[in-house]
Amino acid sequence: MSKIIQIAKTGGLTGAITIPGDKSISHRSIMLSGLADTPVTITNFLHAADCWSTINCMRALGVIVEEDKGGVLTVQGKGLYGLSEPSDVLDAGNSGTTIRLLTGLLGAQPFFSVLTGDASIRNRPMARVIAPLAKMGLQIAGRGQSRYAPLAISAPEQVRGIEYDMPVASAQVKSAILLAALYANTPTTITEPIPSRDHTERMFETFGIPVKREGRAIILEPIQKIAAPKRLDVPGDISSAAFWLVAASIIPNSELALINVGINPTRTGILDVLTQMGADITITNNRWSGREPVADIVVRSANLKGVTIEAEIIPRLIDEIPILAVAALFAEGQTVVKGAEELRVKETDRLKAVALELGKMGATITENPDGLVIDGPQSINAAICDSHHDHRMAMSLAVAGSAAQGVTITESDCVKISYPDFFDVLSKLRQD
Ligand code: S3P
Repeated sequence: MSKIIQIAKTGGLTGAITIPGDKSISHRSIMLSGLADTPVTITNFLHAADCWSTINCMRALGVIVEEDKGGVLTVQGKGLYGLSEPSDVLDAGNSGTTIRLLTGLLGAQPFFSVLTGDASIRNRPMARVIAPLAKMGLQIAGRGQSRYAPLAISAPEQVRGIEYDMPVASAQVKSAILLAALYANTPTTITEPIPSRDHTERMFETFGIPVKREGRAIILEPIQKIAAPKRLDVPGDISSAAFWLVAASIIPNSELALINVGINPTRTGILDVLTQMGADITITNNRWSGREPVADIVVRSANLKGVTIEAEIIPRLIDEIPILAVAALFAEGQTVVKGAEELRVKETDRLKAVALELGKMGATITENPDGLVIDGPQSINAAICDSHHDHRMAMSLAVAGSAAQGVTITESDCVKISYPDFFDVLSKLRQD
């Protein structure tokens, strides 16, 4: 794929899109299947660079992952105690979920390993994961005070359960602790300040591992074994659907049917906010994919209005702020995003990147330490914008350009991280 893409203004988007597999659930499906004693077949796995980073790391630990021509995976795991010492450094690529979750899993193993990733990953704080894991007896070293990767992970003498009050709502940190806790000899209790996505908890239950929830606390007792399902089906990723939800809302004459979207309530903040903004969204065909709720969604063009997005909802739409900023540019009135300082430590500093890149299109966006203020509607122009190697920035810019006067995006090939055929789908839906 070309690194530079030109997107033209479009008069409308129509059609049906099957939403690609959920990235968070795809990672977890490989990790848990890798710990199983019996084979697991995974359908609708997200074949994108981040999830392949997880596959390659698990393969380096001895897990067998096979793919058929239709992209269906079969994983032959090594059992809870069967992973083997990797003979080389493990590469998480651009994937925060891979490096953070594997830090918990590997820290509990009786062998040495080193985890690293690309330039962005090597600048994302790992101290938030290492601190609780160290309390559990895990031995993980990283660079400097923020404990940046590469991480050197040594065998622990013992893995102890902990009672941990998380200072930041983060599913990656919670999941790293839960994976290490599979090897602990005492119970683990994690309390979250605000609930984050609970795919790990649901996936544990799918693998026969009981998880207790008491208010904001999650409790895992020591376990003996896991009982894997024969088959796992990954729902579509609402974070990928988000680009279409906003695109169809702000581009006149649009109507899109989004097929097979995961609607786990810890992820549906985008639906709540867009509905509050006046979006025309219909949720149909509610069903279950294992323990994850799924639906089809129809979205039509609408006149949006500005809203205030408070800190409490941020974990439920943590990855959707860049595309919501685009929606805000087309909405009547002021949109305020608060309590979103976590965006500064994502693939790039997303608050800064949103203000800078949409600013190149002529948008006026006020960047606060913990959020954004956007007065709308604003007319924006064609411009050359950069993705900052951030997949969600590239897709947000493409939606902004399609709705306004077009855009040229540099480093656009980063969409391969979560949505490899995003630009192809966009061109098929256009009614120019
Ligand atoms: C993820 C959790 C979130 C999210 C990321 C995926 C996960 O990160 O931003 O894209 O799969 O657990 P944090 O846990 O750091 O908020």
